[in-house]
Amino acid sequence: MTINISSAIERKFEELFNEKPVLFRSPGRVNLIGEHTDYNMGFVLPAAIDRAIYFAITPRSDNECSLYSYDMDDSYKFRVSDLKFSEKNWANYLMGVVDQLVKAGYKLNGFNCVFGGDIPIGAGLSSSAAIEAGLAYALNYIFNLGIDKLTLVKLAQKAENEFVGVKCGIMDQYINIFGEEEKVLKIDCRSLEYEYFPFKFENASIVLFNSGVSHSLASSEYNQRKKECGEGVEIIRKKYNHVGSLRDVSVEMLDEFKFRMNSVIFKRCKYVVEENQRVLNACSSLEKGDLITFGSLMYLTHEGLRSEYEVSCAKLNFLVDILKDKPGVYGSRMMGGGFGGCTINIIENDSIDEITLFVLKSYKDKFNIDPEIYVTKISGGTNIIPVNENAER
Ligand code: GLA
Repeated sequence: MTINISSAIERKFEELFNEKPVLFRSPGRVNLIGEHTDYNMGFVLPAAIDRAIYFAITPRSDNECSLYSYDMDDSYKFRVSDLKFSEKNWANYLMGVVDQLVKAGYKLNGFNCVFGGDIPIGAGLSSSAAIEAGLAYALNYIFNLGIDKLTLVKLAQKAENEFVGVKCGIMDQYINIFGEEEKVLKIDCRSLEYEYFPFKFENASIVLFNSGVSHSLASSEYNQRKKECGEGVEIIRKKYNHVGSLRDVSVEMLDEFKFRMNSVIFKRCKYVVEENQRVLNACSSLEKGDLITFGSLMYLTHEGLRSEYEVSCAKLNFLVDILKDKPGVYGSRMMGGGFGGCTINIIENDSIDEITLFVLKSYKDKFNIDPEIYVTKISGGTNIIPVNENAER
């Protein structure tokens, strides 16, 4: 699958632009635990996966950028010197990156670019971050801009914050650039320090069930959650003035405010404060190779996202609930921003067939939908595809 996509994109590029492109692979991501904690300066534990967006790209000598979306069979042109928000939504993710590079003072020419891949859109696997961070990485390479990896991450995040208008945290762009095979990445979103933890179990895999509910309409709710957390921080800061984010708040501190803040704001803060602790506990259980504890933390996360943070939905809850006491399933929870997308599940390899059949049937019976199922492998972060490698494909 992967092999065909990158070659198809390369061929399309040659057909459209009549030259040989440089190729890049930019992965989607899962997040094991630590949801809605990144923009609260907390901890997250994502991994890059074996689904990706591929870019075929070359620099131009003039100012024009010529984009072609392979998946949508659609093209768009703009000039580096004339960046405007487009009705064509997909183009904004790419223009946002150029916009950030220009704002940061980098001298850029135009470029030709064909991109596309197999990250399902709206499934919560961060296809948007893969586009943003992937393009940032590719432009840095082809124009030899000398930008370090962390700066690329921040720039790609800002592209989404400012040009696309979603006030997302830094997790998705970070893991896109820093992902490593068979490892999950614990990111401290306050200090931006990171630590890899091996995630290779002979007997278990990460399996995603796609609810089929596209989460693309969730951005306003997402921004709203961010705002609510900010309101909580403001109230707490009146007494504890060192508090800059929910990361600086303990469960005990928060309890003092139970009746001093609106109950919705309290619930949001409680979820985030507890989720940060769950990530730390999850990392300790990984160090011990204890998937049972890890999985039980995932269920707790889901419970918090469902009833306190209120970003789940009936279909996601159903997918998690039916697996709760199922032998062979370590843990299950909704993943990503919420309101749709996938659940992430850790399932014993020997049970994958049986469990996926069970999920397919139960979901079909209940909603008359066949959920897509992805058994994922943890892959490396965005990288150039060496010429020979693609030729061998
Ligand atoms: C989206 C955002 C991330 C993060 C998650 C929720 O994926 O892009 O920054 O906030 O939602 O954990």
